[in-house]
Amino acid sequence: MCGIVAYVGPKQAYPILINGLKRLEYRGYDSAGVALLDSFLSVYKTKGKVSELELFVKGLNLSGTIGIAHTRWATHGEPNQVNAHPHYSQSKKIALIHNGIIENYAPLRKELESRGYFFKSSTDTEVLTNLIEDIQINEKVDLFEAVRVALNQVTGAYAIVVMSENDPDTLIAARKGSPLVIGIGKDEYYVASDATPIIEYTKNVVYLDEEEVALIRRDSELKIKNIRNQDKTPYVQKLEMNLNVLEKGGFEHFMLKEIYEQPCSIRDSMRGRIHLELGTVTLGGIIEYEQKLLNANRIIIIACGTSWHAGLVGEYLFEDIARIPVEVEYASEFRYRNPVIYEKDVVIAISQSGETADTLAAIELAKSKGATILGICNVVGSSIPRITHAGTYTHAGPEIGVASTKAFTAQVTVLTLMALRMAQLRGTLSRSRFMQIITELDLIPEKVKETLKVSKRVIEIAEKFKDVRNFLYLGRGYNFPVALEGALKLKEISYIHAEGYPAAEMKHGPIALIDEQMPVVVIATNKGTYDKVLSNIQEVKARKGIVIAIVTEGDREVKRLADYVIEIPETEEMLVPLLATIPLQKLAYHIAVLRGCNVDQPRNLAKSVTVE
Ligand code: G6P
Repeated sequence: MCGIVAYVGPKQAYPILINGLKRLEYRGYDSAGVALLDSFLSVYKTKGKVSELELFVKGLNLSGTIGIAHTRWATHGEPNQVNAHPHYSQSKKIALIHNGIIENYAPLRKELESRGYFFKSSTDTEVLTNLIEDIQINEKVDLFEAVRVALNQVTGAYAIVVMSENDPDTLIAARKGSPLVIGIGKDEYYVASDATPIIEYTKNVVYLDEEEVALIRRDSELKIKNIRNQDKTPYVQKLEMNLNVLEKGGFEHFMLKEIYEQPCSIRDSMRGRIHLELGTVTLGGIIEYEQKLLNANRIIIIACGTSWHAGLVGEYLFEDIARIPVEVEYASEFRYRNPVIYEKDVVIAISQSGETADTLAAIELAKSKGATILGICNVVGSSIPRITHAGTYTHAGPEIGVASTKAFTAQVTVLTLMALRMAQLRGTLSRSRFMQIITELDLIPEKVKETLKVSKRVIEIAEKFKDVRNFLYLGRGYNFPVALEGALKLKEISYIHAEGYPAAEMKHGPIALIDEQMPVVVIATNKGTYDKVLSNIQEVKARKGIVIAIVTEGDREVKRLADYVIEIPETEEMLVPLLATIPLQKLAYHIAVLRGCNVDQPRNLAKSVTVE
């Protein structure tokens, strides 16, 4: 994880760097630092958030038109000032920021120690910094060459930016496994982990590719080589993002803003893909692979976290309406368990960030066995869309809150479209049923708008239960993944322990937890296994548990049994997750706010997990 920003040009670097770090804080926020080069190279860093770095440097001379900055999510070494980035080399002439993990840092460190290097921190990053310095001194090469040679000696993942007091006009940036984008302005360059710190200055960007090293020099053209010293031509792309998507727009938190954006984000993820008048669904990005999907023996969905929950909804959808067998795998397990993969398998990788290390590794594994890989990602230009055969973007727009909300509903929307397209091609749905479903899907953004009006009820419930220690979430069928996602939201941002369970499985364990203190959230909408869920509610009530039920408007039976009820509009069973998730997001949000938690940046979490 970690966020990287760098600047070289005619302006003062510090304000650009600090603003950039604020935009990237979702990537990690346990320590932060900045290096500036005026007449000499100065590094300022501190434990804590970017705001603490700002306080720390107040009153200091922060001039310099070239600099690098970093916000950290600790991997090697605890989050303290010494381990924070940038790291100086031994001579203090070189400074480096890094996102990723240098796996062979221990032998490299030993080797450097035997040659007289001392290390102040316990990080892998300081090892790389000194390795570069050592190469530069011994091989008498310039900074670019020293970085390139050093990167040939390391294993692991990195996005780095390096600067040197001896070369005050130059930044060297390189990536492998962690993202890096270079913004090209007028006589100036920006470097960052994603485009958000760059967007207000320039729309022209170059995404570095795997194992590429960029030579970024004031007043010179951008030059790129790979670590094997082959020249690469920079491919300049235009950013389509607007600045307002990166601001809170009057909401107290990004998470709340993103919850309220869902009518729009769901609409955006369907835009141009549903054609009601023609009665078709198209997904341009995967059109060339439709035949593969059609002939697939099975679909394997790989993802992590919330994206894995979306994958579970996908499993129900593909099996239910397109009749294709599906397995949903945690990418982190899949990659290490020698899975059986056939060439006729289609793997769908789902990821908001497009950078999750485990998902990337799982894709590479499946690819090496000959499977076709499709991606469902939100961040345009991220790593997963680059390594998959084809894919489709969710178009939910930037999601800043660490807990995923609008990205989840956009993923579910895209999976619904994919399943519908497959059903159409395979002829597993009648024409009239297909039309019924797409007509209803088209109404979902409006129904989400309706669902968002449940605030008062949700706040009442949040106030009542904000101090409990445990929550249980139950659902069946399409609502089982919703229960998992509801529980994940609560634990992520409020730190209350919450478990999601298939309602019928409750009797095989979690029922032992139920007493008069235990809130049980049951998603009990009116289709599918409604009657069975009613019985599950009765089982909870018989043990004096407190039932908070998500029901369909007009429900009577659950209302008679439940202690608290939240209504959502009527819809098709397969589309219920798009509505039922909304009150659960809001419940988690309000509980977290009432508990005084940092909703947008929950402790220990990061939005983009680029380490395993
Ligand atoms: C992190 C985030 C989660 C996210 C998961 C997978 O844990 O905090 O919100 O669901 O990574 O991320 P991805 O970007 O691959 O969807």
